[in-house]
Amino acid sequence: MAGQGSGLSAASRSTLADLIPVAARARSVFVFTGAGVSAESGIPTFREAQTGLWSRYDPVMLASLDGFRADPANVWKWYDERRQTMQRCSPNAGHVALTAWQHLLRKQGADLHVATQNIDDLHSLAGTHDVVELHGNIWEVRPLGTEFADAFRLMDCPLSEYPPRLADGSTLRPNVVWFGEMLNEDVLQQAFRHAKHADLALSIGTSSLVYPAAALPFVAREHGATLVEINPERTELTAAADYVLQEPSAVVLPMLFDAIREIISPSGAADGK
Ligand SMILES: NC(=O)c1ccc[n+]([C@@H]2O[C@H](COP(=O)([O-])OP(=O)(O)OC[C@H]3O[C@@H](n4cnc5c(N)ncnc54)[C@H](O)[C@@H]3O)[C@@H](O)[C@H]2O)c1
Repeated sequence: MAGQGSGLSAASRSTLADLIPVAARARSVFVFTGAGVSAESGIPTFREAQTGLWSRYDPVMLASLDGFRADPANVWKWYDERRQTMQRCSPNAGHVALTAWQHLLRKQGADLHVATQNIDDLHSLAGTHDVVELHGNIWEVRPLGTEFADAFRLMDCPLSEYPPRLADGSTLRPNVVWFGEMLNEDVLQQAFRHAKHADLALSIGTSSLVYPAAALPFVAREHGATLVEINPERTELTAAADYVLQEPSAVVLPMLFDAIREIISPSGAADGK
C-alpha cells in the first residue's frame, strides 16, 4: 500500500484511508454510475455532445419521441455521430477496477452490482457482469412503437441509412430512454432491489439530478448501506454521503480496489484482473 493515494488531495487521502477498511468488509456492493465514470474514456456528457452543428438544436428534439417523429433522420444522424465517438472509446481504469472488484467478490461468495445511467456499454466492455442499464443502450434499437423487450443489437457504424429500417420497412429507434419516457419498470425494480440489499453503495460520476434513478443511492442509505460519492464536483447527494471523494473516478477507483484486494485477497494479486 506504499504510495497509497499519491496524486490525491490531502482530504481525499484521509477519506480514502478511512474508507478502505469499510469497503473491504462489504459483502454486497451497489454501484450507481453516470456520465462522469466515462469522462476519462473520452465520452462527452449529454451537453458536450451538442457542440458545433448540434448546438443549434433543442436537446429535447434530439432525445424525445416528438423530436424523433418530427425528424427521425436528423435524430439518427446525431445518435450515429455519438455511436461513432463511443466506438473509438475504451473502458478506463475506473470501469476496470469495478470489474475486478466484482470478480473478486464473486469468487468469495459476495457480490457487486452495477446500475448505470450510461448508454455507452463501457461497463460491460470492461467485463462487468449483469450491468443494469437504466437508460438503455446506444447499440440497441427497436421498432418504433414497440417495447424494450423487442430491442436488438445493431452494430453497423456508421449506419447506411437514417433512420435504419427493418426489411419490412418499419422504422427503428435507439433503445434509449428519452425525455418524457418512463424507464423500463423491470430494470428499475432490479436496480432498487440491489440498492436495498447493499451494505456499501457508491454513486460515481453522476450529478444526481435525473429521477427516478437518482433516488437509488438515497434508498441504499435508508436501507442501511454506507454511502460513498466519487465525483470531482459537489452534487445533490454529497451532503447525504458518508464518504466523499472529490476526485476523478479513473484515478481513485483503482486505488480503492488495489487496497481492498490487499486486505481481502493478499495472496491473489492477480485476482479479478
Ligand atoms: N456515457 C454515456 O453513456 C452518457 C454520456 C452523456 C450523458 N448520458 C446520460 O445523460 C444523463 C445525464 O446524467 P448524469 O448524471 O449521468 O450525467 P451528468 O452529465 O449530469 O453529470 C456528470 C457528472 O459526472 C461528474 N464527473 C465529471 N468528470 C468526472 C470524473 N472524471 N469522475 C467522476 N465524476 C466525474 C460531473 O461532476 C457531473 O456531476 C444520464 O441519463 C446519462 O446517462 C450518458
